[in-house]
Amino acid sequence: MKKISIAIDGPAAAGKSTVAKMIAEKLSYIYVDTGAMYRALTYKAIVKDIDINDEMAMERLLLHTTIELKPSTNGQLIFLDGEDVSNQIRGEEVTNKVSTVAAVKAVREEMVSRQQKFGMNGGVVMDGRDIGTKVMPNAELKIFLLASVDIRAERRHRENIQKGFPSNLDILKEEIMLRDKQDSEREISPLRKAEDAIELDTSTLSIEEVAAKIFNMARERI
Ligand code: C5P
Repeated sequence: MKKISIAIDGPAAAGKSTVAKMIAEKLSYIYVDTGAMYRALTYKAIVKDIDINDEMAMERLLLHTTIELKPSTNGQLIFLDGEDVSNQIRGEEVTNKVSTVAAVKAVREEMVSRQQKFGMNGGVVMDGRDIGTKVMPNAELKIFLLASVDIRAERRHRENIQKGFPSNLDILKEEIMLRDKQDSEREISPLRKAEDAIELDTSTLSIEEVAAKIFNMARERI
């Protein structure tokens, strides 16, 4: 059976990673959470007290950083220089700073190159902001997930509460809007729907319904 590449892009908290994980599991494909890679670097900069606006320092930091994505029973674990940071990278400080780090040209170039290596042999589901446009422009299936900001904030709020993380709906909404703005307005590889991507508004769909739709589209291409 042919192993295809699937790119899932979209704004913050649109359900990309949940859906991508489900599809990857069903197809026995590799799942790559590219946002987690930018988050891991941001976390390291915070811990090491490096100025995230200093582009050269951020580039140097990334070149001395290993980021590994390892499958686990409940999704994917993120290892930063050998340490499991899966929970730490979801914290508020990382979330508020990650879009600044992701806008640095040299950081993006290196991250994109690492991500392209993961996707080299197909059989991959990758989610992010520039997967269909930049990381895997030849992906056989490109999806652009959308949902209203209210719905995205509510979903993330419920998810946080389930995980036992502190959560405030209004702050979440503000944070999501700001991150979308930064990600869409940056100069290099801004958040954009690839011309050949299929847009899917998930506002009125359950995660299972979204996953089933994408799975059917994938099957048509295999
Ligand atoms: O997907 P997630 O919300 O975890 O991504 C965190 C941040 O990483 C995004 O807001 C964006 O700034 C950045 N990102 C990116 N390109 C990607 C994936 C994420 O710029 N492919």
